[in-house]
Amino acid sequence: MARMILMAGIAAIAAIGGIIFWSQTGPAEHVPAPTAAQISYADEAMPSDAALAAIYDRSCRACHALEGFGAPLTGHSADWQARLDARGGMQALLISARDGYQDMPAKGLCNDCSDAQFLQLIEFMIEEVS
Ligand code: HEC
Repeated sequence: MARMILMAGIAAIAAIGGIIFWSQTGPAEHVPAPTAAQISYADEAMPSDAALAAIYDRSCRACHALEGFGAPLTGHSADWQARLDARGGMQALLISARDGYQDMPAKGLCNDCSDAQFLQLIEFMIEEVS
């Protein structure tokens, strides 16, 4: 029991530490701005799978295709990579998408998306564009 409380305490401190670390070193300051090519890619890019494209178009795209909105831009891999590093991988980004993260609304306007679909959408947005 004491061990469990200790573990929970460590997890809580790690979580708070993560938030402080992130707010001090967030991507806005350290990630290079997207290039003109990345901005125009984000404007037009769509997943090749038609069903996934339909979901992306009516949900994630509203925010993730717009430069300057605050959402990591589709194809702006430096921003995505910084988030992958800060959160600790794809599963953590999946949790951000599902549960929300700061200005990212929970489920990102796709209330019926499954975890597998969220992962596919994130993988599509992370894809590197030069
Ligand atoms: C209403 C606008 C909006 C919509 C719609 C939206 N997002 Fe986001 N998303 C954001 C913003 C803003 C951020 C940046 C949050 C921050 O860092 O404060 C973000 C960040 C993220 C992140 C990174 C979270 C992290 O831990 O850094 C993921 C993953 C993500 N969105 C996935 C999705 C997916 C998948 C969809 C579609 C199902 C989606 N988003 C739809 C606004 C949106």
